Amino acid sequence: MKADNFQKNLISRHGPPRAKVMGIGGSPRKNGNSDVLLRQVLKGVSQAKLPVSSVHLRELQFQPCIGCERCRKDKICTGLKDGMSIIYPEILESRGMVLVSPTHNYNVTAWIKAFIDRLYCFYEFDDNRPRGWSSRLAGQNRRAVLVAICEQEVKEDMGYTLGAMRRPLKALGYDIIGELPVYGIFDRGKAREKREVLAEAFRLGKELAGSLTS
Ligand SMILES: Cc1cc2nc3c(=O)[nH]c(=O)nc-3n(C[C@H](O)[C@H](O)[C@H](O)COP(=O)(O)O)c2cc1C
Repeated sequence: MKADNFQKNLISRHGPPRAKVMGIGGSPRKNGNSDVLLRQVLKGVSQAKLPVSSVHLRELQFQPCIGCERCRKDKICTGLKDGMSIIYPEILESRGMVLVSPTHNYNVTAWIKAFIDRLYCFYEFDDNRPRGWSSRLAGQNRRAVLVAICEQEVKEDMGYTLGAMRRPLKALGYDIIGELPVYGIFDRGKAREKREVLAEAFRLGKELAGSLTS
């Protein structure tokens, strides 16, 4: 089967968007702070009895967008055949998303950036310059929670981390129902010891679940 047919088939195998949450972890560190926080938000979602799935981007073999624009015609990414092809159906089917990134150099990690860029295939553009655009994920009551974690203790040192997730997710059609910036944690998994942070992550998960079912 040709690669683009394979991808189109894969993508057609998803159900309609529903009250379900997909968690995306953007840290290269296994059992690091992002993993702890993602698990905690998803626990909150699960307590509200919504189905969850999660992926740590470091475990997915995928490339950044190559700008081939084949998605204009195919409505999904057919220019690259990689780990993203496998998770596109889950993204389409889950109205909820949790995105967690540690701060790397005042910004999201390269994994989160690449992931967001690969959502470019969900845009529609017109033929004007600059092109007018809309998102095929919009108007489906999609909701998201964003979590960022960094070592330093002041907002400036987290830099663009939250904004770099907020702006594109909103453009894609997600309503951001909560954000959790976590400061002052460097060591792997230390977030596990921060009870208030864990409680807030859990609360946000429950709130996300509530926003998807109300
Ligand atoms: C390449 C790299 C760049 C980093 N840049 C920053 C930064 O700009 N600001 C900051 O406060 N912490 C920075 N950190 C520290 C991490 O954000 C911090 O250790 C975080 O807790 C890691 O989360 P994780 O365990 O989920 O990977 C950086 C760490 C690495 C490895």
